[in-house]
Amino acid sequence: MADLNTSFAGLLLKNPIIIGSSGLTDSVEKNKKLDEAGAGALVLKSLFEEQIMLESAQMQQEGYYSHMARDVEHYLRNHQLSEYLKLISESKKACSIPVIASINCFTNNEWVDFAAEIEKAGADALEVNILAIQSEITYEFGSFEQRHIDILKHIKQTISIPVIMKLGHNLTNPITLINQLYANGANAVVLFNRFYQPDINIETESHRVGSVLSDSSEIANSLRWIGIGSARIPRIDFAASGGVHTPEAVIKTLLAGASAVEICSTVYRNKNKVIKEMTDFLSEWMDKKGYDKIVQFKGKLNAKDMQGLDMYERTQFLKYYNFHD
Ligand SMILES: Cc1cc2nc3c(=O)[nH]c(=O)nc-3n(C[C@H](O)[C@H](O)[C@H](O)COP(=O)(O)O)c2cc1C
Repeated sequence: MADLNTSFAGLLLKNPIIIGSSGLTDSVEKNKKLDEAGAGALVLKSLFEEQIMLESAQMQQEGYYSHMARDVEHYLRNHQLSEYLKLISESKKACSIPVIASINCFTNNEWVDFAAEIEKAGADALEVNILAIQSEITYEFGSFEQRHIDILKHIKQTISIPVIMKLGHNLTNPITLINQLYANGANAVVLFNRFYQPDINIETESHRVGSVLSDSSEIANSLRWIGIGSARIPRIDFAASGGVHTPEAVIKTLLAGASAVEICSTVYRNKNKVIKEMTDFLSEWMDKKGYDKIVQFKGKLNAKDMQGLDMYERTQFLKYYNFHD
């Protein structure tokens, strides 16, 4: 029988199915069920810098405790933080699989120091998610990428558990950034996080939120950049996130060079049973193909050769100019 073990960010996982950071992982009870359902690891719901700042800003606006604004902010932050630390330590006690904490941050300041508390609470790794849209007219090219590196360097000085960088897809050249992240101690990258989707209601002529859950076609973006990245920077681990909905999709990402997947939308839609469907299918597929271990086919179809390069780096539909549906 196939061995589904995979090494990701220095952690040994019993299989490559990681539950992505979301409301799916925001309580000890849910995490215990995900563990029982067979997940290889889970990433806790992110602690959002923005969320805490907003809450305190709102209280200040409403005039509560205005003379104590700093204290209120301090209280709110510490309250949220202690809840988060409790989620880590109790999930660790309740689960047999690695528990990865997650911070969504966009500044290189006190948030980073909090990473030490996360490590002390027992997290097996920390995933850092620096998701932001760059739309300032005065934006300096490369400054967003540099921010990733500065935050990572600060975190690496603070903790010794593995650090996973979860990237957005709004980067000019993810490969250069991933190479720099690897050079500065990142243990793995996740490609990619998903933005909040804008949409417009044409009847009411107003804004509305687009689909919260992903579409299976979104996987192409992860396949492309993991295919290229795993060929150019083979010593860092990759996880695919975005549009991994089916067992077949898991195998595609491994063939492209991923060590694991971080899934979310399909678990929201189809519940925890998808985890076993994915691992059972992977195991059967490996047996059918004669693979004993994931490393025997991981990256088999990455961009190490001309065929792979042609597939992942092609941008134009030249061959399909006369394409009809
Ligand atoms: C409801 C919801 C909440 C999410 N919350 C977070 C979060 O707190 N932190 C984070 O890094 N990603 C968050 N994500 C992104 C997911 O972890 C994942 O990267 C993304 O949804 C793409 O995977 P999928 O196509 O399997 O959904 C969230 C996604 C959803 C749908």
